[in-house]
Amino acid sequence: MRLLTAAVTTIALALGAQAAVAAPIEIKFSHVVAENTPKGQMALKFKELVDERLAGKVEVDVFPSSQLFGDNKVLEAMLLGDVQLAAPSLSKLQKYTKKLQIFDLPFLFKDMAAVERFQKGADGQKLLGSLNKKGLVGLGYLHNGMKQLSASNPLKVPADAAGRKFRIMTSDVLQAQFEAIDAVPLKKPFSEVFTLLQTQAIDGQENTWSNIYSKKFFEVQPFITESNHGVLDYLVVTSAEFWMSLDKDLQKELKKALDDAITYGNGIAAEKASQDKQKIIDSKRSKVVNLTDAERQQWVKAMKPVWTQFEDEIGADLIKAAEASNQ
Ligand code: SIN
Repeated sequence: MRLLTAAVTTIALALGAQAAVAAPIEIKFSHVVAENTPKGQMALKFKELVDERLAGKVEVDVFPSSQLFGDNKVLEAMLLGDVQLAAPSLSKLQKYTKKLQIFDLPFLFKDMAAVERFQKGADGQKLLGSLNKKGLVGLGYLHNGMKQLSASNPLKVPADAAGRKFRIMTSDVLQAQFEAIDAVPLKKPFSEVFTLLQTQAIDGQENTWSNIYSKKFFEVQPFITESNHGVLDYLVVTSAEFWMSLDKDLQKELKKALDDAITYGNGIAAEKASQDKQKIIDSKRSKVVNLTDAERQQWVKAMKPVWTQFEDEIGADLIKAAEASNQ
């Protein structure tokens, strides 16, 4: 009888061990935006590709709209192993590196094609590694788009923003940008922006057409100035500990799925920038304010001194390289 029990236990243990070996690797992908956004769609595409190509080996669960973590917590959670993939905006990474602040400099990139050229070039690719010392691995950039200024009053010239409160992401560069026009910047999580605008606790915010539309900011902001004054893009990031725990072939397959999902997400970003702007215009809830060249020049003149303020932290050469991507 004893022998039989021992044999059963041994078989059970062996089966258990086999099941443990066969269990798929779980990737939790946490982000803060809605599913109908470039990042939301990219995350779902990544899941779809992994389901197709790595069924049984890897399982991806996507948590949109800050359901799992907000951007201020997600990287700490990642370092603790509670989440494996995130794509915070580049503006939210200053705690981990000062170099990526380059993407927040106002009026640095003239359009998304320039952003793409810079990110694809040697300097942009090198910046992907700027979080390595903190135990994080940058796997790729993802676009959202150029930022616009929404407000409770029409913003034609910088003086129209003076004394008004604007929500910003956690970025000292963005803080300096609004201080340069005598406005009052407030660092607040994305999940709080709609309520802050609705209750008029703040007067305005800056964001892309896609975020302004998908989070309904346009319903509580009567004016949106088409300023294209900065870029909002993302870094797709994982922890070094998780990434290095994968065998090389699996790493390669996951990276390929991610690159394909990013290409797909970038396509959506380009489409949404024009489609969501049009939907906002059609809604008649918010008026789009266009700037004359002379008005735009006033914003450039007021905000551009921020570059010099952050030149030491970012590096003058890097700023020059980014500027060169405009040609
Ligand atoms: C995001 O697009 O991930 C959020 C941007 C923001 O916080 O404004």
